[in-house]
Amino acid sequence: MSREAKGGKNKAFLMPKPHSNQQEDRNIDSTLRPTAWDEYIGQEKIKHGLRVILDAAKKRKEAADHLLFSGPAGLGKTTLAYLVARDLGGIIRTTSGPAIEKTGDLAAILTNLTPNEILFIDEAHRINPMIEEVLYPAMEARKLHLVVGKGPSARTLSLDLPPFTLIAATTRENLLSQPLRSRFGATMRLGYYEPADIKKILERSAAILGIAADLDAVEILARASRGTPRVANRLLKRARDFAEVHGGGGPDGTAIDRTAALATLEMLEIDEAGLEPSDRRLLTTIIEKFNGGPVGINTLSAALAEDRGVIEDIYEPYLMTLGFLQRSSAGRVVLPAAYRHLKIKDRGELL
Ligand SMILES: Nc1ncnc2c1ncn2[C@@H]1O[C@H](COP(=O)(O)OP(=O)(O)O)[C@@H](O)[C@H]1O
Ligand SMILES: [Mg+2]
Repeated sequence: MSREAKGGKNKAFLMPKPHSNQQEDRNIDSTLRPTAWDEYIGQEKIKHGLRVILDAAKKRKEAADHLLFSGPAGLGKTTLAYLVARDLGGIIRTTSGPAIEKTGDLAAILTNLTPNEILFIDEAHRINPMIEEVLYPAMEARKLHLVVGKGPSARTLSLDLPPFTLIAATTRENLLSQPLRSRFGATMRLGYYEPADIKKILERSAAILGIAADLDAVEILARASRGTPRVANRLLKRARDFAEVHGGGGPDGTAIDRTAALATLEMLEIDEAGLEPSDRRLLTTIIEKFNGGPVGINTLSAALAEDRGVIEDIYEPYLMTLGFLQRSSAGRVVLPAAYRHLKIKDRGELL
């Protein structure tokens, strides 16, 4: 609330919002993307599980099992796919669910794979069902069944495919069809990172980018990073911009110190829990317009004029992790912790 109320004074700074600047963010993403296992911080269970699968495949000299990586955006799914590919010899071909429009597109990709290549399909929950039908026998038996011709003269052509490993990534595992899900040898579910891991990621990124940041600043930025490496890296960049323009600490006055870190968050209207204005608007809308909930997702989406997918993929997972929001069959409900955080009374009472 407090930051929202102070919003007016922040308007003097014309700085990008955390969700904008996509090209620049893609560039930092690739500069900072870990290229070796020991640079990939946290997610120890997943790394260990992958180690076993990859070592076994290498020992047998076979393609590794198909893998599904699921979890919210920015947690390191693409990075992990590239690390797996590097481990297995380096060849990876990437595409995404929505990019494969026709069965012919997928057929072309599959028939051009070299043996033991990795095929990475991002946004796998957006693969169209007709394409999925082609994918099943390809994953299971390395066969490609193609229908050639039309009408009574149509016939099915069956081609053998080279051994390959499919890695699919999704932010919405529950939208994947059961037949597709069941064809992966393992599913790795990435969760939000611990603050200590986010701090390590910030320190690594600061070192790569040549940014000076003191311990206090790292701590503050880490807490506002939503347990998400991509957000952490983005905040670090914005804090550097701030320190360069408005002054910071250190010998040359451009290091990110406590003051610069806090001012950056204030400028971006990100509060100490990492909530952005859109997150707070979601919560206050449910509280003010729907009496705290439950409210159905479509009603909420209309009230916020926000795409349902964005609400479900970006806002809700983190709010649920904080214990601020609950999804029930009746709809979304705001929980007491959110009232306390927003300093809003529930039916006249301060919780
Ligand atoms: N475990 C990690 N350790 C260090 N940096 C990471 C880690 N996971 C992700 N990152 C950083 O976050 C960025 C986003 O990761 P990415 O793999 O693109 O996420 P996703 O594909 O899940 O959206 C990467 O460019 C990388 O710099
Ligand atoms: Mg990705």
